[in-house]
Formats: sequence, structure tokens, C-alpha cells
Amino acid sequence: SERTLVLVKPDGVKRGLVGDVLARVERKGLTIVAMELRTLDADTAKAHYAEHAEKPFFGELVDFITSGPLVAMVLEGHRAIEAFRTLAGATDPVKATPGTIRGDHALQIGENVVHGSDSPESAAREIKIFFPDRF
Ligand code: GTP
Ligand code: MG
Repeated sequence: SERTLVLVKPDGVKRGLVGDVLARVERKGLTIVAMELRTLDADTAKAHYAEHAEKPFFGELVDFITSGPLVAMVLEGHRAIEAFRTLAGATDPVKATPGTIRGDHALQIGENVVHGSDSPESAAREIKIFFPDRF
């Protein structure tokens, strides 16, 4: 069993997609082991997205992820990291397969509804940022 950090980003919360994401996660058989609604400050956002610090869209990314409340959760289950990324679909929602979260709900790459950790190392790092005392 494995853990992953998932976010319903501010666009997803504003659009009322939290329930839809949770329903897909539960239907898939992943277990929610922690969950919180919160608004990130810029320092936390920069820490979370540190790997993208040199990208041209980093400023936009930090502004967007701090623009309103998000839902952070830790999911646990068999190959949870890959399982959630499959549910999420491709980063670019135009290319995301219909039936995935991004394929069904998004159009712009900057507002693609969810985040999911991309490796066990990222998951451990991100879980520590969002739930420092819990795991
Ligand atoms: P996350 O699960 O959110 O990390 O998505 P990902 O792993 O599929 O993509 P990646 O880590 O490469 O990029 C992180 C986030 O940056 C993406 O989810 C997008 O929201 C955003 N992003 C990526 N490329 C662009 C871009 O060209 N422009 C903008 N504005 N945002 C981008
Ligand atoms: Mg990523």
C-alpha cells in the first residue's frame, strides 16, 4: 500500500467539484486518510511547487494556487500515486481522456482542477508540507 497527496485546486473548489472528485476517489477504492480545506500562503505554495521554480509560469502557478481555498487530502491504497494520476488524466486538459477528472471538467492547463503527487519521493515531501504532524 502507498500514499499520495491530492489537491482539489481553487478552481475545483470554486466550481463545486469537490464532491465529484471525492466520489471518483471512493468509487475507485482509494482510502481518504486525511483531508483539510485551507488557503495556502505564498511560502507554502512555493515549497509545494519547488520543482517548477525556474519555469516561466511559476508566478502564475503560485498566484493561482493561493487564490482561494483548496482541499488537500492524503489517499492510501494499492499503487495510489499512479491510480490517482490515471483518474486525473493528462496535465493538459485538452489532451486528457474523457472520463478522467481533467478530461471531463477542464480546458486550460493552468486550471486543471486537481493535483496528485508524481512519485513516492514527491508524495512523502508533499504530505509533510500539508500534514506535518499526521504521518
Ligand atoms: P500536478 O498534479 O498539478 O503537479 O500536475 P502534473 O504533475 O500533471 O503537472 P506538472 O507537475 O508538470 O505541472 C504542475 C502544474 O503546473 C500543472 O498541473 C498545471 O496546472 C501547471 N502548469 C503546467 N504547465 C503550465 C503552463 O504552461 N502554464 C500554466 N499557467 N500552468 C502550467
Ligand atoms: Mg506535478
